[in-house]
Amino acid sequence: MTVEETVRQTLAELQVTGEEAVRSAFAEVRSAMEQERQRIIREGARDETERQMIAKTMRDRWLARKQGLLACVDENWLEKAPPELKPVVGRQFNELRRKVIASCEVSGLMSEIPLMEEPAGAAGTTASAARRTAAPGAARVQVTDLTLPGYRRPLGSLHPVTQVQREIEAIFLGLGFTIETGPEIESVYYNFDALNIPESHPSRDDWDTLYIDSQTLLRTHTSPVQIRAMRKHGAPLYIIIPGRCYRRDNPDSTHSPIFHQIEGLAVDTHITFADLKGTLDFFARKFFGEKTRTSFHPSFFPFTEPSGEVAIGCRFCEGKGCRICKQSGWIEVMGCGIVHPDVLRHGGIDPLRYTGWAFGLGVERYAMMKYDINDIQLFLQSDMRFLEQF
Ligand code: DAH
Repeated sequence: MTVEETVRQTLAELQVTGEEAVRSAFAEVRSAMEQERQRIIREGARDETERQMIAKTMRDRWLARKQGLLACVDENWLEKAPPELKPVVGRQFNELRRKVIASCEVSGLMSEIPLMEEPAGAAGTTASAARRTAAPGAARVQVTDLTLPGYRRPLGSLHPVTQVQREIEAIFLGLGFTIETGPEIESVYYNFDALNIPESHPSRDDWDTLYIDSQTLLRTHTSPVQIRAMRKHGAPLYIIIPGRCYRRDNPDSTHSPIFHQIEGLAVDTHITFADLKGTLDFFARKFFGEKTRTSFHPSFFPFTEPSGEVAIGCRFCEGKGCRICKQSGWIEVMGCGIVHPDVLRHGGIDPLRYTGWAFGLGVERYAMMKYDINDIQLFLQSDMRFLEQF
């Protein structure tokens, strides 16, 4: 006889007439409940929802006010007990009720039902059906298995270009320079005119510069911030200017329409070319290594006079000449020069009182040299296989 069938009958119908028989009838109900509880715990649940459903079903089966098994015991056994058995039935009933309430409380029960892992690839229903008929405990997975590896929460890292930018910044910050920034959408005046770049200069035409309208463009270098900073702070001034720049270049392994530069500017009284050389030589040794040799070649930029190009001894062939340095033994790393008096004037600084030196470098190029990267496009492709290496 199932427990349902038992509790739907009265004690008299069950031929329970003595105190001992009452106690064993109650003991059977308690053990039926305990077995059910053990069974659902053994079988476990596939997920949180199923676990909650199993716990609630068990609770309702035993504790529902109208049709719950405990209510049946109350109605059929306790209420209909003959007077001489009432005291013992009453005590047994109270004991059973305490036990059922303690065992079938939903949250407690849920915490005991383990979540089972589905075998990989198996369809949910057949898998759980198979599990239910398998040997008890066979498919059981512990809720907390302390031997399992923990969850790895991957930490991101700074983009290699940002890392190199910060490394360069740190060297100049250590020398007392401060960081200045400016807009990426710039006026033709700041980007070209104020920097002494004449109307006829090829860099100004549509083929090299991305114009927004005739007077506005995406800055082609960080040099316009020289003017903005001079106007804002006056002299003396020791700044570096990191930032994104744009040019109308077709992408290839060494060109990208979006790239980063760092500009340097020192304006003070008695600034000479020796200050420029000393500082940039110090910087090159800090960035590329103490043994690095530097060389200064004459060059031309409209905003500096004289202008120069800094090269470092090729690190790959140690100056002997190789494919990387195009057999010259030297690799160019930046443009520099003594700030043109007109540029100081555009910045609102008196060129008779102050002089200055400046430089500009491409951050991607530095990152490529540092990490031996041969394609600038890698910086913009967001390929995790590349980025994860930094
Ligand atoms: N603005 C130049 C460029 O984009 C780089 C440069 C050269 C900056 C010399 C300077 C400098 O400040 O003095 O190619």
